[in-house]
Amino acid sequence: MTAPLRSGEPIVVQVALGARAYGIAIGRGLIGVLGERIKALRPGARTVVVTDETVARHHLAAVEAALKSAGIDVARIVVPEGEGAKSYATFETVCEAIIAARIERSDLVVALGGGVVGDLAGFAAACVRRGLDFVQVPTTLLAQVDSSVGGKTGINSRHGKNLIGAFHQPILVIADTALLDSLPERQFRAGYAEVAKYGLLGDAAFFAWLEANWRDVFAGGPSRERAIAVCCRAKAAIVARDERESGERALLNLGHTFGHALEAAAGYSERLLHGEAVALGMSLAFEFSARKGLIGGTDAARAAAHLAAVGLPTRLSDVPGGMPGVDALMDLIAQDKKVKRGTLTFILARGIGQAFVADAVDPAEVRAFLADKIQ
Ligand SMILES: NC(=O)c1ccc[n+]([C@@H]2O[C@H](COP(=O)([O-])OP(=O)(O)OC[C@H]3O[C@@H](n4cnc5c(N)ncnc54)[C@H](O)[C@@H]3O)[C@@H](O)[C@H]2O)c1
Ligand SMILES: [Zn+2]
Repeated sequence: MTAPLRSGEPIVVQVALGARAYGIAIGRGLIGVLGERIKALRPGARTVVVTDETVARHHLAAVEAALKSAGIDVARIVVPEGEGAKSYATFETVCEAIIAARIERSDLVVALGGGVVGDLAGFAAACVRRGLDFVQVPTTLLAQVDSSVGGKTGINSRHGKNLIGAFHQPILVIADTALLDSLPERQFRAGYAEVAKYGLLGDAAFFAWLEANWRDVFAGGPSRERAIAVCCRAKAAIVARDERESGERALLNLGHTFGHALEAAAGYSERLLHGEAVALGMSLAFEFSARKGLIGGTDAARAAAHLAAVGLPTRLSDVPGGMPGVDALMDLIAQDKKVKRGTLTFILARGIGQAFVADAVDPAEVRAFLADKIQ
């Protein structure tokens, strides 16, 4: 858990990756200094802002004004909103538009949006001219605490999500928490699942702090910056130790094996947002850990109680329209990329804040657990 921070000044979290190190600046109104920050890092660079239609409506004018006021040349690429934009077709459009905007190796791509825009624009930056530098300006809570940090970029394949991609770290992340004020509450809440995830996976004190302060995080008080900073610090530390997910980084997948299966079962639709699926997945992972005797039932109940208190789903019956049967869910779990030679990899817990990678989970045990849950 981090020390209290003075209000009014941005919090800067460093991602220690040697030559690829960068800073994440977190604070209310930081968009105003975007131009200065970019100019300090890459004097003379031109920029192209990639964003989606909804974010463009709310925030593109302010971002362009901030860049122009620092004397930075700016082009724009606006893609349709939603997961569908992480496609080959939109990827092609973005790459061609970056080239058409005459963005050179010394110039910059600015990803302004949620995880969709960040993943898409980051991947285009990784590919055009064999790699352009890029800056993340995340506009969803999920993107501020998770997707904008760590350098995973990519698009979806017909075989599954995020199967085409690259590790490409940004050179700067500017997380302006005021941008979240325009985010629909349901999207904010879904992003909050990833915030709670950091407490549940490795920081019991942070989880307890969230139990006491989540209302202020939602209301946009000082706890919001603080919570985002704690999450970014946690992710930065994990990424610095395991950039390419050969070990510890997998802990960030807490709730995601169950979650991805549930998301797929709901057809990646409005019925179940990613963060909602993760909340449900984390509740299931904790319950499954309790069933395996790894933790007491109280910890599992406490994890679920907090997620339910903020309005996130924690039971399969919370999903509107219901979920498919055990066979279909097991098929979806088996299709997830975390399957090795017939056993399943899950992130399980020995307590709140004590997640670990369990890489030889017997599918029969998972099936029996889900069968009980579905009844
Ligand atoms: N790269 C990674 O490490 C990583 C990690 C987690 C998730 N992801 C990816 O992130 C994506 C999900 O990201 P997301 O939840 O941010 O979704 P998103 O980018 O689709 O944004 C959600 C919705 O909110 C709108 N929106 C965004 N910012 C807004 C704002 N400030 N005001 C009003 N509306 C706004 C968007 O237009 C969209 O409709 C998934 O594709 C997932 O695979 C990537
Ligand atoms: Zn996630």
